[in-house]
Amino acid sequence: MKLILNGRINRTYVQTLCMMFFRGEKFPENEENSSRILTVTTIDTDDGINCECELCVNNKTVRESSFVPFSQSEKYERSSKSAVGIAVYNAGVKLTGRNIPWGILTGIRPSKVAYELLSKNTEENAKLILQNRYLLSENKANLAIRVAKNEGEILKISDNNTCSLYISIPFCPSRCSYCSFISYATPKLFELIPSYIDKLVKEITSTLESIKNQGLKLLSIYIGGGTPTVLSEGQLEEILKAIHNSIDVDELIEFTLEGGRPDTITDKKLEIAKKYGVNRISVNPQTLNDDVLKAIGRHHTVNDFFEAYERVQNSGINFINTDLIAGLENDSFDSFKNTIDKIIALAPDNITVHSFSVKKSAQILRDNAEIYGNEADYAVKSVDYAYKALTENGYEPYYMYRQKNTVCDLENVGYAKKGTFGIYNVLMMSDCHTVFGVGAGATTKIVKNIDGNLEIKRIFSHKYPYEYLQDN
Ligand SMILES: C[S@@+](CC[C@H](N)C(=O)[O-])C[C@H]1O[C@@H](n2cnc3c(N)ncnc32)[C@H](O)[C@@H]1O
Ligand code: SF4
Repeated sequence: MKLILNGRINRTYVQTLCMMFFRGEKFPENEENSSRILTVTTIDTDDGINCECELCVNNKTVRESSFVPFSQSEKYERSSKSAVGIAVYNAGVKLTGRNIPWGILTGIRPSKVAYELLSKNTEENAKLILQNRYLLSENKANLAIRVAKNEGEILKISDNNTCSLYISIPFCPSRCSYCSFISYATPKLFELIPSYIDKLVKEITSTLESIKNQGLKLLSIYIGGGTPTVLSEGQLEEILKAIHNSIDVDELIEFTLEGGRPDTITDKKLEIAKKYGVNRISVNPQTLNDDVLKAIGRHHTVNDFFEAYERVQNSGINFINTDLIAGLENDSFDSFKNTIDKIIALAPDNITVHSFSVKKSAQILRDNAEIYGNEADYAVKSVDYAYKALTENGYEPYYMYRQKNTVCDLENVGYAKKGTFGIYNVLMMSDCHTVFGVGAGATTKIVKNIDGNLEIKRIFSHKYPYEYLQDN
C-alpha cells in the first residue's frame, strides 16, 4: 500500500491501523503503481486537529474526516494520534465492512489506557470515552475496565523493593504448527539439555544471591518455556532444588511451573514440583477438539488432557491454570463453546483465553500463506462467549494483552476465580517492578520508579540454547 502522509503523523501507527483491515500488508517506501493508496492529512487549528483521509483500493474510494479538540490534560501527540486513528479507522470500516472491536487502540495493553482513564474519570465516563473516543465496542470497553480494576489491585503488592524471577526452559516434546517461541523440539537437540541445566542452575543460584544482596523481596517465580515438564524427573529436581537451597520458597506469593503439554506431565514430576514449593501449574489443552489438536500438530489428545488434569488435581498443587486458543484454523464457534463449557465444568482456578495469532516464524504460515487473510469471524463470537460464560461462572478477567496479526485483532485474557489471580503475568507486563530472566531467550527488565519517573533497562540473554551454552 502506498501511504501519503501530510502533517506530523506517526507512519508506524498508520501502518498498524491499515493492517487491521488489510492483513499482512506491506508498505514499500517507493511504490509507484499501487492499487491501494491511503492519503492522510492533518491540519492544526486554534482549537484542535483536523484530519482528512482518503482510502482508495482497486478503484473504490472512500473519504473520512475527524476533529479532535486540544485538551489541557492531553499531549499534542496523543490528540493527533486520535484524530488520525478515527479518520483512518472509519475509512477502513467503510471500505471493507469489517468490524474491529478494539477500535483505534492498537497497543498491546488496552487496560493501561482504561487504567489511566479511571484515575481521572468515573467508571461510567471512562467507559464512554473508550467507546466514543477510542471507538471500542461496548464489550471491549467493559472488559478493559474490569481488567484495569483487577490489575490495579494486584499491582498494589509491588514497589521498588520487590522483584520476580523468570526461568526459561526452551525445549518442547514436539513443535506445534502455530507456535513461534524459540524452543528446541528434536531428540538431537535434547542432547543439549544436561549442559543447559548445569549452566542454568549456576545462573539461578547467582541471580538469587544477587537479589538477596540487593535487599529485594522476591514475590514470584515463573518457570516457563517451551515446556518445562519435558525435562526428566531428575533434571526438573535439579532446578527446583537449586531454588530451594537459595531461598525460602514459602515466602513467595507465587511459584509457577508451566506444565503446558499434557503429554509431559507425570505423577513423579508433580510430586517433585509440590515438594519444592511450586504452588501454581499450567496444563494446557488449547482446545477440546481432537480434530483441531491434530490439525495444529499438538501430538496429544483430549483424553490425554483430562488424564493429566486429574493427576495435577491429585498432586496437591494449589492453583491450576489451563490455556485455550480461540480462532484456530479448523475450529468453529460450536467447538470452542464446547471447550469453554467443559473447562468451566472442570473448574480450574485460572483459565487463559488466547486468540489465535499468525506468527511469522510459525509452520502454519509456511504451510498456508493465505492464513493471513483468514478472518475467522467466529473468533469474535468465541471470545465474547468466553467472557460471558466465564464471568457468569465466577471468573474475573484480571490480565490482558494483544499481539500483532491476531485473528480479528482480538486479545488474550487471563481469567481467575476470586483470590487466585496469577500475579506473575500482571507484574511482568506492567513495568511495576524488576523481573530477572535466566536461561536462553529470557529478558531481564530492571525497573526503577524514582519519584514517579520510570527508568527501565532491558538486558537480553542469548536467544538460542546453543549460544547460551557457548558463552562462558
Ligand atoms: C509459552 S506458550 C506455551 C506453553 C506450553 N508449551 C504449551 O504449549 O502448552 C503459552 C501459551 O501461549 C498460547 N499461544 C502460543 N502460540 C500462540 C499463537 N500463535 N496464537 C495464540 N496463542 C498462542 C498458547 O495458549 C500457549 O499455551
Ligand atoms: S505451543 Fe508450547 S508445546 Fe507447542 S511448540 Fe510452542 S511452546 Fe512448545
